[in-house]
Amino acid sequence: MTTVLDPYEIRKDFPLLATGVIYLDNAASSQKPRQVIEALTRFYETKYANIHRGIHRLSREASEVYEKAHETVARFINARDWREVIFLRNTTEAINLVAYSFGLGTLAEGDEVIVTVMEHHSNLLPWAAIAKKRKARVKVVGLRGYTLDYGELELAVSEKTKVVAVTHASNVLGTIIDARRIARLAHSVGAVCLVDGAQSVPHMPVNVNELECDFLAFSGHKMLGPSGIGVLWGRKDLLEEMEPFLYGGDMVKEVRMKDGVVNASWNELPWKFEAGTPNVAGAVGLAEAVEYLSRVGMDNIRSYEESLTSYALRQLSEVDGVEVYGPKPEQRCGILPFNVKGLDPHTVAAILDQKGIAVRSGFHCAQPLHEHLGLYEGTVRASFYLYNLKEEVDTLVQALTEIASIAEKASSPVE
Ligand SMILES: Cc1ncc(COP(=O)(O)O)c(C=O)c1O
Repeated sequence: MTTVLDPYEIRKDFPLLATGVIYLDNAASSQKPRQVIEALTRFYETKYANIHRGIHRLSREASEVYEKAHETVARFINARDWREVIFLRNTTEAINLVAYSFGLGTLAEGDEVIVTVMEHHSNLLPWAAIAKKRKARVKVVGLRGYTLDYGELELAVSEKTKVVAVTHASNVLGTIIDARRIARLAHSVGAVCLVDGAQSVPHMPVNVNELECDFLAFSGHKMLGPSGIGVLWGRKDLLEEMEPFLYGGDMVKEVRMKDGVVNASWNELPWKFEAGTPNVAGAVGLAEAVEYLSRVGMDNIRSYEESLTSYALRQLSEVDGVEVYGPKPEQRCGILPFNVKGLDPHTVAAILDQKGIAVRSGFHCAQPLHEHLGLYEGTVRASFYLYNLKEEVDTLVQALTEIASIAEKASSPVE
C-alpha cells in the first residue's frame, strides 16, 4: 500500500486512540486531535465571551475569532465569499434551513423535489415535510448497481423540478456521486442543487465552484471538529433572497414596534441565518480541525482512504460467510457495509465491540436504501479515517472470520 500520509504519526495526535480501541465508526463521528481539544480549552480559558454584543475587549476578540472561523471554512471549500458560510448545529439543521427558507418560499402545488434512494433521512424528511405543506411532490431516483442511475435522473428532471437534493457520498454504500453532473442537470431546468456533503467534505477535496452546486451542507463533528457545529454554504444571491429560518437576536438589524405591529429588517449574511448566541467555541474548534485537515492535505486523505478501503475489500472478499456491499474502491469513500450470514447486524456489532472494535449496525438513518437493496435487517458498517491502520483492518478481518465460522457451524444441521 503506498503511503501518502503517515497514519502512525497522525495517531499520536488523537488521545482517544491511545486507549486501544479500533475505531471504525468514523461515518457516524470522528475522533478529535489534541490540537482541536487544546484550541477549545485555550479559547474557554483565555478568550471566551459572547460575540457581537459587547464593546468590551473580550467580546470584540471573540467576534473576530468567530468571523475568522467562517473565513477558514470558506477557504477550505473554496467559497468566493466568507459571508456565504453559515454556522449551524450540523448537516441536518443546514438541510432543514434550505428546505424551510428556500423550499417553503419557492415550491408551489405540483412542483417537484428530486432526491435519490441513497439519501440519509436528513436529506429526505425535510423535503417530504415541505413538499406536503406545499402540495409538491418528492421524486426518488434509484440505483444502477451500487451507484446512482443517472439515466433515471435525466428522465426525472423536468420544468416542474425546483430542487435536486443529493448526497455527495452515501453514508451506507460509500458511493460517490458526480455532483457537478447533477448540478448542471438541475440548472438546465432552472432548479437549484443542494449537495449533502456530510460524508464527502471530511474525506476528499470539495470545491463548491467545481461542484457548481447552489448549497452544500456538512457537519464539523465528522471532520475532527467538535460536536454541535455544522455548515451551510449557499450561493449569496439565493441566501439574500431567502427568508430567515430562525428568528431572534443577532439575525436582525432593526426592530420597531408601532401600535402593536412589529417591523424588522434582517442583518447581513451570514448573521441573518445565525439567530441567537452561536456555538462560538465550536467554530474555533472547527477552524482548528480544518487547519489540521489542510495541513495533512485532502488529496492525501482521499488517496490513503482509497487504498485502505481497497485493501479491506480485498481481504473481506476472501472471508466465507461475509457479504460486502457497494461499488469499486475508486467510486466510493472509506465506508464498508457488510453482513455475516446467519447473524443480524446488531449481534455482529456487539461481538466486534467485545473484541474492542467499534462499528455501527442497523439502517444508519437510511432505511429506504436498505429496503431498496432488500437488506431488511440493515447492515454492519465499518468506516475509515486518516488515522486508521492496515493492521486494524487485519484485526477486523480476523474477527469476522471467527464470527462467520462460528455462525456457520451453529447453523449447520447436527449429524
Ligand atoms: C450523508 C449524511 N447526511 C446527513 C447526516 C446527518 O448529519 P448530522 O447528524 O451531523 O446532522 C449524516 C450523518 O451521518 C450523513 O451521513
